[in-house]
Amino acid sequence: MDLSINLGKINLKTPYLLASGTCGFGLEFENFFNIKETATIITKGISLEPNPGNPPPRIYEAYGGLLNSIGLQNPGVDFFLKEIAYKLERKNYPYIVNVYGKEIEEYIKIIEKLNSTQALAFEINVSCPNVKKGGLAFGQDIDTLKVLLKEIKKISHKELIIKLTPNVSDIKPFVKACLEEGINIVTIANTYLGMAVDLKNLKPVFKKVYAGYSGPAIKPLTLRLVYEAQKVSEDVYIIASGGITTFKDALEYFLVGAKVVQLGSILFRDVKAPKKFKDDLKSYIASLHLNSFQELLDYFKEKRQMW
Ligand SMILES: Cc1cc2nc3c(=O)[nH]c(=O)nc-3n(C[C@H](O)[C@H](O)[C@H](O)COP(=O)(O)O)c2cc1C
Repeated sequence: MDLSINLGKINLKTPYLLASGTCGFGLEFENFFNIKETATIITKGISLEPNPGNPPPRIYEAYGGLLNSIGLQNPGVDFFLKEIAYKLERKNYPYIVNVYGKEIEEYIKIIEKLNSTQALAFEINVSCPNVKKGGLAFGQDIDTLKVLLKEIKKISHKELIIKLTPNVSDIKPFVKACLEEGINIVTIANTYLGMAVDLKNLKPVFKKVYAGYSGPAIKPLTLRLVYEAQKVSEDVYIIASGGITTFKDALEYFLVGAKVVQLGSILFRDVKAPKKFKDDLKSYIASLHLNSFQELLDYFKEKRQMW
């Protein structure tokens, strides 16, 4: 059964990716399933300098999901290049590097350094505050986003994927902005801003007060965003990321227009989920008497066009 799928020039063996920040650098998963045949790794967000992240607590279990305030902890791009990239490449593991910066220059420097790797693409996290523009996230201001995209498009040797934030009133203009800058792959979406309070000590749980909410509870919300985004244009390739907990969740995303999906918080509960979902997908496609994942997407598209 052919589960392969192309996102522009990115060829994937299956429609499953391991979401940034939930799989480390992917190597941790090699004891649980055959990475090469099962899923594409998306690395933890990489910055120009090492980042120690936020003080604890960093994770809080909320009803229906998970709040995290990791603060984008990572060892920095030079460490990644020296100590991690070659390990992934020696084993031929398919990987995408998630990149974030506080200023456009940082994104540029990181991408220039990573251009020589065998990464399949760069996933650009635009949820970081733009220091030069006074702290508004790149992903929440269309003009700032467009300038960033224009600049990184000029220097990237690889396909760019823009990971959008759901914390906007309308996601469609952000998808359009990507298309206008010649980028047609988007990840929808990152975590939702939330918070938790500690009733014993009568204060917020997290030192930074707000945290990112992920897991099962966000699936219906991100499902809507994916559906809205696919209406923007036939040309956009959507990578869905949000609350996938069962194989049926993944199917729902494919039905509303996602080409591939990311498995995130589920990996904390079930490290073998990617392998199970791969087997489930094969059985499902066979049960419809179809021959490939692409045929399933075509079939779903036909159905969607009748809504
Ligand atoms: C602990 C944790 C760390 C994360 N770190 C990153 C990150 O470094 N960069 C990024 O773009 N997204 C990061 N995310 C967001 C996930 O990649 C994913 O988009 C989000 O959790 C929604 O998917 P889920 O509900 O399946 O977890 C992180 C999420 C979690 C739970």
